[in-house]
Amino acid sequence: MLEVTGLRVAYGGIQAVRSITFHVGEGETVALIGANGAGKTSTLKALARVLDAVGGDVHFCGEKISRIAPHHIVRKGIALVPEGRGVFPRLSVLENLHMGAFIRHDSAEVERDLQRVFAYFPRLKERAGQLAGTLSGGEQQMLAIGRALMSRPKLLLLDEPSMGLAPIMVQKIFEVVRAVAADGMTILLIEQNAKLALESSQRGYVMESGEITLHGESAQLLDDPKVRAAYLGE
Ligand SMILES: Nc1ncnc2c1ncn2[C@@H]1O[C@H](COP(=O)(O)OP(=O)(O)O)[C@@H](O)[C@H]1O
Ligand SMILES: [Mg+2]
Repeated sequence: MLEVTGLRVAYGGIQAVRSITFHVGEGETVALIGANGAGKTSTLKALARVLDAVGGDVHFCGEKISRIAPHHIVRKGIALVPEGRGVFPRLSVLENLHMGAFIRHDSAEVERDLQRVFAYFPRLKERAGQLAGTLSGGEQQMLAIGRALMSRPKLLLLDEPSMGLAPIMVQKIFEVVRAVAADGMTILLIEQNAKLALESSQRGYVMESGEITLHGESAQLLDDPKVRAAYLGE
């Protein structure tokens, strides 16, 4: 579904992503793990066209998307849940969710998807009328994922959904990520929490200083001595 070839991202003279190649198949959850500063967010931003890559190609469902306008990305079926969530603080939970469906005109289907999001995250239903800015960090993460799902994407890009959250909340969020995947969603999951990401994915890529240094089946990466030493604190 997603084919990334030789992708490079730079900020002025700083090379953040140095020619990486990876793919995500339809229905897969693929983890991209790595330490802070490895280039994970820059990769995701380039895929979502939030920033311009300086080199490489991105194909999505067979179509080259590496140069399309950023506002076309959602229409192509890619939804980004950014680092730090990016919910609209002065809008209610319900309004935020409807913003996720702004490109859609199938209101009966939108309503059905809204109920599906509420089924994944009952907390959002309880807080539907509350301003998003007054939600806890974990609830905002739920809302950001719910809002992304409201565009009915083919591919969900998640940037560190566990960041800054209490362990119990991280468990809740990941239960839903796995449920969304089990319902057929294709997911590219970016995480510093390597254990959680590898336990929630079929394949994984390890990123270090802008390069992919290891890749394989997630279960094998979890057993890999280098991964264990560098990312699992062993
Ligand atoms: N807006 C920016 N301007 C300059 N350098 C940046 C910017 N964003 C990120 N970087 C640099 O790019 C590298 C990769 O950052 P990032 O993609 O955010 O990594 P990660 O998400 O893996 O923590 C880091 O060295 C970071 O300092
Ligand atoms: Mg990041």
